[in-house]
Amino acid sequence: MMDEVFGVFPTPVLRAAGALEGELVQGLLRHFAGLADSPNAASGALSHTRLLRPADSPLLGQVAARITPRIVDIGALMFGQRLGWSIKEMWVNLMDGGGHQAMHQHANSFVSGVVYLTPLEPAARTVFHKPVGGTEFVFRNEHAEVAPTPFNADRWISPSTAPGDLLLFPSYLLHSVPPNPGGRRITLSFNAIPGGLDAWGYAVRFGA
Ligand SMILES: [Fe+2]
Repeated sequence: MMDEVFGVFPTPVLRAAGALEGELVQGLLRHFAGLADSPNAASGALSHTRLLRPADSPLLGQVAARITPRIVDIGALMFGQRLGWSIKEMWVNLMDGGGHQAMHQHANSFVSGVVYLTPLEPAARTVFHKPVGGTEFVFRNEHAEVAPTPFNADRWISPSTAPGDLLLFPSYLLHSVPPNPGGRRITLSFNAIPGGLDAWGYAVRFGA
């Protein structure tokens, strides 16, 4: 009998290659790349649009129509039920060469995601992190002879992406973008909430 190892309590990250077709990606770039004029607090080579809603533009409505069924899919893994979901805010990120995105997570949201609108350098892929910090003393085994495993790794680099590809993840998951060695990297990010959750009658409703 083969020994078995169980990866208990895993975290879902959903990748949908080609979630947005090329025409829609080009339309988003034409309409929104020029509106990313709010500077990022941590990186001078990163800027964002204001927060947008699907109803603000037919293009954003099309994005929501393509993405929402996938949010229902990852939500079913997270909450065990195909709930009704809505995207409550979306924004476009414009990162020039040398820009980076500091490690962060998305508050007041349950599922977050990113759609890649331009090609990007492998070094500027989105990186996900295990929770950091805590108040306990820490023992580690980290040196040149240590091999990464799914159990000792503290970060996960997302797969290479093409324009139109989508990544969805639980909003609590920490993520960052390392310094971008390439050209302009443009993405569309968003947050989504379910209509409500119910713990044996202790229920809560959410609204944007
Ligand atoms: Fe983010």
